[in-house]
Amino acid sequence: MTASASEGPAAPLLTLRRIAELREAVAGWRRAGESVGIVPTMGALHEGHLALVRRARDHCDRVVTTIFVNPIQFNRPDDLSAYPRDEARDAAKLAALSVDLLFAPPVEEVYPEGYQTRVSVPGLSDCLCGAVRPGHMEGVATVVAKLLLQSLPDRAYFGEKDYQQLLVVRRMVRDLDIPVRIEAVATVREADGLALSSRNLLLTSAQRTQAPALFRVLQALAARLEGGAVPAQDVLEQGRAELAAAGFEPIDYLELRGAESLEPLDRAERPARLFVAAWLGAVRLIDNLEIANSGASRHPPA
Ligand code: PAJ
Repeated sequence: MTASASEGPAAPLLTLRRIAELREAVAGWRRAGESVGIVPTMGALHEGHLALVRRARDHCDRVVTTIFVNPIQFNRPDDLSAYPRDEARDAAKLAALSVDLLFAPPVEEVYPEGYQTRVSVPGLSDCLCGAVRPGHMEGVATVVAKLLLQSLPDRAYFGEKDYQQLLVVRRMVRDLDIPVRIEAVATVREADGLALSSRNLLLTSAQRTQAPALFRVLQALAARLEGGAVPAQDVLEQGRAELAAAGFEPIDYLELRGAESLEPLDRAERPARLFVAAWLGAVRLIDNLEIANSGASRHPPA
């Protein structure tokens, strides 16, 4: 009897560090008629990331995961240096899911000396996280454009947890005619509603008990805004007070915006979403939630 993938230890994961090797591997699979999905990450993998990998595994013949802590999307050096890194642990998780290839390039491979080009999507990037973290969305768009062009996969998977990032990537791919289908995956949450994030590990146990208030408040606000009958301003003001009472300080933003182009909305009368970013001590948490009955599609248009 031959051993199946579910028996015994997973085979070691093929790990590549060079762009040329990645390009060759993906091109070879596609020449052989196999479909290829890519899951870009910065590592420190949790069940949220793994949901993307599982979706890719279900859809595609071959799955590539990338781990690259992208320096140009960090606007604070302390945030970059504190970013958790454990490639061996991540690789074991990916091998257990039968990922075909891990691409984990060194910084000099992605940004060699003399590197200059940036990709920006100004309309979608100027609000929410883009406004609070200058250069962040440009850094994301730049590295995602590079990873997609380096690999040229059929599909690429992104989480709704970072909804603005998902929209920026979709727009960038359309505007630059990059031949890849962007797939959205719903936010994976803890049982108490807290969205999974590598930053959750930085919370103290007291903060961890406060953290689910972020999603609870979003859910309560979404219920009140449903249908678009109520103006958002007062509801959001009350939401800010509830977050402050739950220990969030400062609140970077709590806003109602259009689900497709992120325009600010006074009422949830067309596809709309709530967006929040707020701090518990030294940890910044973000989340977002669709408003039901605002004509919103579950996912932004492909
Ligand atoms: P990272 O934060 O590692 O996230 C990688 C992918 O996992 C993103 O698409 C993100 O939205 C998704 N993800 C994270 N937490 C999730 C959750 N709880 N549920 C569902 N999906 C979740 O986002 C980045 O890296 C980077 O900006 C990157 C796109 C890799 C560019 O550097």
